[in-house]
This record gives sequence, C-alpha cells and structure tokens, in this order.
Amino acid sequence: MKIGDVETIAVTGSTNADLIERISDGKSIVEGHWLRAERQTGGKGRDGRQWISPLGNLYCSTVVQLRATDPIPQTLSLVAGLAVHDLLMSQLMNHRDFSLELKWPNDLLCQNAKIAGILCERVNDSVIVGIGINVTTSPSLPDRETISIHEQNGKNANYAGDVLKYLIPKFKDRLSRWRLEPLENTIAEWKERAHAVGTLLKVHGSQREALQGEFAGLDANGALLLRLANGAIQSIHAGDVSMISEGIG
Ligand code: BTN
Repeated sequence: MKIGDVETIAVTGSTNADLIERISDGKSIVEGHWLRAERQTGGKGRDGRQWISPLGNLYCSTVVQLRATDPIPQTLSLVAGLAVHDLLMSQLMNHRDFSLELKWPNDLLCQNAKIAGILCERVNDSVIVGIGINVTTSPSLPDRETISIHEQNGKNANYAGDVLKYLIPKFKDRLSRWRLEPLENTIAEWKERAHAVGTLLKVHGSQREALQGEFAGLDANGALLLRLANGAIQSIHAGDVSMISEGIG
C-alpha cells in the first residue's frame, strides 16, 4: 500500500471505528493511508454525539503514528483543524464574502454554522484522526446551525472523493510542520484562524456546570484559555464549546 493511498468503501458504521478495530487487531496502518466511506451508518461525533452521514459528504479517517519527539498528542486536533481550514479556504475562496473560523478544539464554522468536524481518538501510540466535511448537504441538528460547501459556493461540482484528494496534501503539510517546527507556530496559526479574542464562549463539561467567559487564546500546550467574569483566566483541557452568538445554543 503506497503512502497517501485512499481506500474508498460504499458504507460502513464509522471510518474511525474501522481503523480502531484494525489497530486493536494488531494490523499495522501506514501513516498516510486514508479510509473514506461514501456514507456511515454509525458516524461518531465528539462527546458521544452522532455524526449524521448521508451520501454526498466526506467521511474519512487516517492514522498518525506517534513518535517520541512529537509535540503533545492533544495538539494534533489543532493540526487537523488547520488542514481542514486550509482546504476549505481553497474550496470556498473564489466565492462571495464568507467567514471561516476555527472553534476550539477543532470545529469549523462557516458563517457561524458548522461545516466540518474532527474526532481524534487515541489507541496506544496511534491517533486516529476522523474528519467529516459537509460537501453537498448539511444535516439539520437540533442544537446548531449547519452549512455545506455546496450551499456556500453554489456549485454542484463538489465530489467528496475530490475534496479528500485536496485535503490529503494539506494534512500532510500541517503534520510535518507540527513535527519539525516549534509547537508555538501551530498554536499561533490556529489562533489567527479562530474567532476573535474576547468572543463570548460557553464551555460544557461532563464534570462541572457550564462555564462562561471570553476567549483569551490558547496556552503553550493548546488548552483553551477563558477569561471569567472576575478577570481570572481558566484553562480548559476538555469540553464542548459554543460561541454565545453561534447558531442556536
Ligand atoms: C464532531 O463532533 O464535530 C466530530 C465529527 C467527526 C466526524 C467524522 S466522519 C469520519 C470519522 N468517522 C466517524 O465516525 N467520525 C469521524
């Protein structure tokens, strides 16, 4: 199997679950290999949510094999977010004005509506990076607005397989920069593409009540910094973040 190979299947439960199963069964997956499904019947989102996966959108997963010299693995979700941001800029940029922002840890919002999501899952020294991009349709969700590339740029021509072809080199480039450059470069570039400092955010965590505060950037390890009403800065390592202006909720 060559590096950069794409294995496309018509349907599966979840491309992330498939790669996790292969690794757990002791099969080795070459870094650079991508699994794409045309649809998923059990697509997984963050925080145990479902990722609705009809035909037409992109559902793909790849594996990063951690090396001893790599930065902390949690920051891989920033890498994936940047790669998808790079990809979407190239897919959408020739069209009417639009906003495209990263929201911690790795949501992509176009016109404040969700256009893509990323789920990173670790098994031993492998991190499975799963990416879903709304290419032709935007499934309706009860708690947030969604949008697709097609709805934003008005073209019919987008095909999920082509979108993955464009995504692969962006991901490869971001991954090698994460390995070779100081981590602060990845963090700085992520912040440049995120909503503005001062944006009101609400963080929901399973262990505590929702916290509300202003976005104050990321710390040196990529954790979210939130300025609370009393001026204190709180770092957040996990949680579901919503922008108070974003869609519904
Ligand atoms: C999120 O909740 O924002 C993350 C969504 C991640 C969805 C992708 S689709 C491909 C891969 N397989 C899955 O089951 N989930 C990820």
